[in-house]
Amino acid sequence: GTARFTLDPAFTVGEVNPRIFGSFVEHLGRCVYTGVFEPDHPTADEAGLRQDVLELVRELGVTAIRYPGGNFVSGYKWEDSVGPVEDRPRRLDLAWRTTETNRFGLSEYIAFLRKIGPQAEPMMAVNLGTRGVAEAIELQEYANHPSGTRLSELRRSHGDKDPFGIRLWCLGNEMDGEWQTGHKTAEEYGRIAAETARAMRQIDPGLELVACGSSGQSMDTFAEWEATVLKETYDLVDYISLHAYYEPVDGDVDSFLASAVDMESFIENVVATCDHVGARLKSKKKINLSFDEWNVWYMRRHQEEARTNPLDWPEAPRLLEDSYSVTDAVVFGSLLIALLRHADRVTVACLAQLVNVIAPIMTEPGGPAWRQTTFFPFSQASRYGRGEVLDVRVDSPTYQTAKYGETDLLHATAVRAEDGSVTVFAVNRSRTEPLPLTVALNGLDLTGVVEHSALADADPDARNTLEDPERVTPHAVDGTTLTDGTLTAVLEPLSWNVIRMS
Ligand code: AHR
Repeated sequence: GTARFTLDPAFTVGEVNPRIFGSFVEHLGRCVYTGVFEPDHPTADEAGLRQDVLELVRELGVTAIRYPGGNFVSGYKWEDSVGPVEDRPRRLDLAWRTTETNRFGLSEYIAFLRKIGPQAEPMMAVNLGTRGVAEAIELQEYANHPSGTRLSELRRSHGDKDPFGIRLWCLGNEMDGEWQTGHKTAEEYGRIAAETARAMRQIDPGLELVACGSSGQSMDTFAEWEATVLKETYDLVDYISLHAYYEPVDGDVDSFLASAVDMESFIENVVATCDHVGARLKSKKKINLSFDEWNVWYMRRHQEEARTNPLDWPEAPRLLEDSYSVTDAVVFGSLLIALLRHADRVTVACLAQLVNVIAPIMTEPGGPAWRQTTFFPFSQASRYGRGEVLDVRVDSPTYQTAKYGETDLLHATAVRAEDGSVTVFAVNRSRTEPLPLTVALNGLDLTGVVEHSALADADPDARNTLEDPERVTPHAVDGTTLTDGTLTAVLEPLSWNVIRMS
């Protein structure tokens, strides 16, 4: 069968907030050390930042970069990470059982963002695991207050004359998870998040604050957690967070390919919960969603490694270094489509993470940096997914999945740019069959196909490695046409597609 949908500029979802192309740098494994920061590397600049990595980060098109964790933030002492490097303490990082040298800290993070370019924005998390209100506002004063106080002058004495101007802050991380240092009940967390938000807003009412939602839709406390936390924080925060990671379970690739079904239901359930609390509070305000950790992650493999190889506090070990196949990239693209399809309420999102740790960019210490398969869907979505999301309701052939039942083979969205050009992002979930696609274009002034790019491969397990870093790249697809207001294309089996029209 043929998959079909209609595009009409009268039917839109909402404007894409550039912040949905965010990412995440945690002090975890080699994300920071020998990832973004490696003073001895041949391409390192005067700040110790790898310029080969910086170039790839720019090409990837990331916007907001969340920092410094993740689970790491729940033991984070920001004071350790500032000032003369030789005075910074070495600390145990309980979250990942490693030693943190603090050679890279807050100032280096801001320098990294500034070097990426104006599109990069800080998104700083405060520690609400082992710490609380006082440390959060001290960090805020150090980072953002211009001058003339103890902590702003301390920053200036460390060489950072200009304030960091951090607008977007996360109030802790995954506080619902029992693995979190200083884990809390929803009531406990709701209270500390509210009081931290209140204090931070006493310094600066213009901040944008993210309260922790659930670390997954499958948590026992899911939805009740959000409702309880928001009851305490509704007027004090702007966002609630969502985290989700997907992997094939017991070799069930068909369900894995449908992971976005779960992601979309997660988003819709959190929206419903936010709006329920808003209705009960008779509030006109809407809470938006910060999907600040998402990716494909072979978590079961990691858990097995952690069980059999308890880490003895090494520095920057190889942790969570997943290598991504073509299949993984297709699922990953579908997760991006899920975010875009909900652009009206998901206004921040962070791909977890940026370098080496479940990442689109890999590096070798002293060696090269390269793009994983997942790099391409992200860079294309960030580049062409700016503008207004059009409402896409597909009529698609289906397939059976053990986890989600009957599922559409086509997953798609479309974005209309300011200049009127339209890009369709589409995934064919069939592992064996090409999928013919017909799109009716109503009231759009489009004359032709600029490009149809696809990521697909005869070997669905193909990947980019140190030995073969360019094995997988997107290719151009011929034969895609736009005639009489109809787009006609064929999507290869197991493929991620970007079809640009103008
Ligand atoms: O991104 C890896 C980890 O996943 C983060 O530290 C944590 O927040 C989540 O559980």
